[in-house]
Amino acid sequence: MTHILVFGKNGQLATALAKSPANTEFKLNFIGSSEFNLIKHVSVIYDYIMNYNQIDAVINASAFTNVDKAERHGAEHAWILNALAPEQMAKACKARNIPLFHVSTDSVFKGTKTGAYRPDDPVDPVNFYGATKLEGEQYIQRVGCAGSIFRTSWVFSNTGHNFVNAMLALAEKHNQIKVVNDQIGLPIYAPDLAQALLQAAYKMLTNPTRKFDPVYHIVGGGTPICRYKFAKLILRTAGLNTQVTPISSTEFAAPAPRPANAVLDTRSFTSTFGIILPDWQSGLKTMLANIGQE
Ligand SMILES: NC(=O)c1ccc[n+]([C@@H]2O[C@H](COP(=O)([O-])OP(=O)(O)OC[C@H]3O[C@@H](n4cnc5c(N)ncnc54)[C@H](OP(=O)(O)O)[C@@H]3O)[C@@H](O)[C@H]2O)c1
Repeated sequence: MTHILVFGKNGQLATALAKSPANTEFKLNFIGSSEFNLIKHVSVIYDYIMNYNQIDAVINASAFTNVDKAERHGAEHAWILNALAPEQMAKACKARNIPLFHVSTDSVFKGTKTGAYRPDDPVDPVNFYGATKLEGEQYIQRVGCAGSIFRTSWVFSNTGHNFVNAMLALAEKHNQIKVVNDQIGLPIYAPDLAQALLQAAYKMLTNPTRKFDPVYHIVGGGTPICRYKFAKLILRTAGLNTQVTPISSTEFAAPAPRPANAVLDTRSFTSTFGIILPDWQSGLKTMLANIGQE
């Protein structure tokens, strides 16, 4: 049995990893912030991994994901968790000769490209969160441990903070909501992300001599959508008739800018691993059907 140490326990991805049907190949040990706070104990992450009993790989599903907080008073914590912590993980993985599977974000891009972003497109973070995640990617690549970085975007699940839950919560309180119509992306249902990540990890662990790319993209299959249309689809599928009004990102004035184009190109991921990424719309239907059944 392959033992994987997973940083993150109650987050969207970590929760989905724990429940994934693909994890039968692995024994996953989840370390949440209450077991080991990566910000407080950043200086001993290396020792923690080095002294951990049996591990064949590390998945980093932890991150400082509050984009607006990162832009303002959370900057230092975001930097420690998104940049310094992965560097320490990479150093320990290299020393133990095991791969690190790290998760990153579309926010490493500016969002001004026409068409989907490829993994090797030039990076230029759109906000401070994206800058910290990019620094994490660069530290990992500089250390040169085995494994890959998997960028994703617009993750949603029944657990935690995400766009779908935010729209449902707003619709509960208001008859009319305003949503930006100038940001497009390809969402992904966290269980689909978890399954794809574990299947890719399995292929990499069972083909140790094969060369893999440093960075892959994993998002849902299907057609990109703007947040305004996504919100309308969420509410319609949930059977709610809340009125949705389109506004611009400038009018919305979030503390941190978001990429206008967050669409990630997954072709290198699907061709390398032979994995078909499920349509995000079927993930949305499953998620909404699961509400109240947990
Ligand atoms: N959510 C999105 O839309 C989105 C978009 C693009 C990329 N991503 C990337 O996808 C990955 C997974 O995101 P997610 O949506 O699952 O994030 P999430 O739901 O916000 O979960 C964050 C995870 O980080 C852990 N964490 C936070 N602070 C910590 C600390 N001080 N010490 C140790 N662990 C800490 C949490 O630990 P606990 O388990 O203890 O709560 C939790 O498991 C991240 O790398 C993120 O950057 C997400």
